[in-house]
Order: sequence, then structure tokens, then C-alpha cells
Amino acid sequence: MLESGMLDTRNIVLTGFMGSGKSMVSRELGEIYRREVLSTDELIEQREGLSIRDIFETRGEPYFREVEAAVVKEVAERQEVIIDCGGGVVIDPANITALRRTGIIFYLHTSVESVLKQVLKNQKRPLLNVADPEARVRQLLTEREPLYRQADYTLETADNSVDEIVIKMREILDHD
Ligand code: S3P
Repeated sequence: MLESGMLDTRNIVLTGFMGSGKSMVSRELGEIYRREVLSTDELIEQREGLSIRDIFETRGEPYFREVEAAVVKEVAERQEVIIDCGGGVVIDPANITALRRTGIIFYLHTSVESVLKQVLKNQKRPLLNVADPEARVRQLLTEREPLYRQADYTLETADNSVDEIVIKMREILDHD
């Protein structure tokens, strides 16, 4: 649980599956709390000079996860920032340990239907670029659900707008 008065320095960390709205929610929180927003995916792309899709294609997922872990370690050393985590950050327990040390972790929970609606709009998610994306989403969500649930707070996003999610987060952040 949050120690009272700690929000001043603690990071706000957003985790959740692809298409759960982490980036949009992060951006809005950044404006409200006047905090810098750090996206692990964007930092990985900057560092590698390649898109996520190209990193997966040319270097493979294990390499991507190594860079991701290095980026997570760095952003977790910051204070008073908002951290928008790629959906697979929770796979490596060291990532969660590092993020938890300096931040409050939120899990934006969503439904299979909502994920499919969001992520199939473009080809940016290499993990879902498969013959049966629905089966893949179900499988990954089932595998990861217990990992996401390690968050301090879980919020339902499937039927909620970005504004509604942000309101719920503010209630937690401002009153806990
Ligand atoms: C991934 C999620 C993506 C990105 C990469 C792998 C995952 O981030 O890091 O494609 O393993 O769930 P978003 O959750 O921001 O789409």
C-alpha cells in the first residue's frame, strides 16, 4: 500500500496488455500531475534506432526483452515520472521489483474483445501478427494475468473511457 505523502516522489507506473489504453492514460496523467511521461517502448525504439516491429523481426524477442529490462532499470531509477510500460514488462520479475521500489503500479485490465478491437487496427504489435490473433491474445492474457495482478491497483478499462480511468486513478492517487 501507498505510504501517505509518498506520491510527491513516487513514480506512477502503468502496466497492462497491449491496447489497454496505457499510453493515452499516461499522457493525460502527465498533463494533470505535470510529470514527464516515459514510455518503455519509445525509449527502446530510440535506443535501437528501430521500430519495435523491426527489432522483433531482425533481432528477435529475447533481444527485445534484454533491451526492455535495461530501459526499465533506468526509468525505475527516476523519481516523479509516469512510466508507460510495454505489455510484456511484467514477464521479468526483476522489472516488477525495480518498478515497485520507486513507484505505485497500476494494472489496466481489459477484455479480449477490447484488445482485438484496439490492436488489430495496425501492424505495430509483432506478437499478434499471427494467423489466429484472438487465440494468441487469450493465451497471452491467461499466462500474464497473475503477473499483472501483482500491481498495487487494478482498474477495469474495457468499458471505460480514458477520462473515466483517469478519474479513478486520481481518486486513488490523491486520497491514498
Ligand atoms: C508487447 C507489448 C508492446 C511492445 C511489444 C511487446 C507485449 O507494448 O512492448 O510489442 O509483449 O505485450 P504495448 O503494450 O504498449 O503495445
